[in-house]
Amino acid sequence: MFKTLAVLGLQFGDEGKGKIVDYLSSSFEIVARYQGGANAGHTVITGGKVFKFHLIPSGILHGTICVLGNGMVIDPIQLLEEMKMVQDYSPQKKLRISERAHVVMPYHKEQDRVEEEKKSNRIGTTGKGIGPAYEDKYGRIGIRMVDLINRERLEEKVRLALKMKEGIIEKSFSVKDIVQEYHEAGLRLKKNIIDTGEFLRKSIEEGRSVLFEGAQGTHLDVDFGMYPFVTSSNTSIGGAITGLGIPPHYISNVMGVVKAYTTKVGEGPFPTEIKGKIAEEILKKGNEYGTTTGRPRRIGWLDINLVRYSVELSGVRYIAISKIDILSGLDEVKVSYAYEYNGKITRKIPSDPAEISKLKPVYKVFDGWEFTGKDLKHEIPKNMKKYIKFIEEKTGAKVVIISLGASREDTKLLGRIK
Ligand code: IMP
Repeated sequence: MFKTLAVLGLQFGDEGKGKIVDYLSSSFEIVARYQGGANAGHTVITGGKVFKFHLIPSGILHGTICVLGNGMVIDPIQLLEEMKMVQDYSPQKKLRISERAHVVMPYHKEQDRVEEEKKSNRIGTTGKGIGPAYEDKYGRIGIRMVDLINRERLEEKVRLALKMKEGIIEKSFSVKDIVQEYHEAGLRLKKNIIDTGEFLRKSIEEGRSVLFEGAQGTHLDVDFGMYPFVTSSNTSIGGAITGLGIPPHYISNVMGVVKAYTTKVGEGPFPTEIKGKIAEEILKKGNEYGTTTGRPRRIGWLDINLVRYSVELSGVRYIAISKIDILSGLDEVKVSYAYEYNGKITRKIPSDPAEISKLKPVYKVFDGWEFTGKDLKHEIPKNMKKYIKFIEEKTGAKVVIISLGASREDTKLLGRIK
């Protein structure tokens, strides 16, 4: 049995994976990210310092080796800034970047902006150039980390990409300036750019413990999310295999992170969305503003059926619930476990977003609870226990961690991963 664990989000992203991964990181020798780019983001506060991460796993703060897998799209300029932010933690030694990972170029961000503006049905992207970088990857005109090191090849590829984008992007770019800046960045990262697939396979075979870190959430998965209101990568378990170059049986366990309620940034259907006083309370108390964009998140009750779907899809056996403390003090807490659709009760999530918008959630209502989260030695409140039990019942996965506050210490273990 390998000592590996995949941790991924089971809702629309922002489930609090960052905190859970940070909590678990010290038990792993390697943390490897498999998809997405600087569209992700989370904040870690430690030793009185604030660290805002977008690309590097926060495991770097624990001395863990951090891998940026081939499935990612990496902005090397931002990466160098993040490396500077954590310079006291030896990123030059600890970071391994896949030579096959694709590079987010300045024209990708421009393309992201232009494409969003043209759409009548906007997605509400983070504007980080993620979609266009993946478009180029699949269109076979992408620039990979390995290309940054070879100046001639880089120039040739930038020229081609810009030619293909004529009539698409509005701003003009200087090939010379881009090549200068990105080649220089490539040279600075050269020592960290390796065949990460080979590194990971070898490490796992040697018995090293590895945590595979997903970004965003299952319902933003380009195949299984609420398309087109998704990101451009596979956030569910398949992404870990293709995004890191490991065989499926190297993944010993899968843990899903679930926020105790639902949030969503960007557009698209959201069956359990709520507006009004309770939503505002949760928004404020939960500080529900995007780390990357600062946008206020949309708020809703927990949709356990969406979580069930994610559990089935990725073979999730263990769940970590985040932000359950935020629901404390409410008179009642609702969970949707099915929908009313065309006069029938169903758990099926339609593939057409227009149909998803017609789903009317069926709720179970729980009495509220009081818990400050400060004294973790106490038994958790009876009503909170019922809530957790319901999540287990409806998903078939075991809740092993609950997070009751922003800091690492406000985390309670309810069970073990076997
Ligand atoms: P993109 O990934 O920037 O292309 O954005 C596509 C969709 O995914 C938009 O609805 C974004 O708001 C959403 N999204 C991307 N990254 C995150 C994230 O880390 N958390 C939550 N939503 C995200």
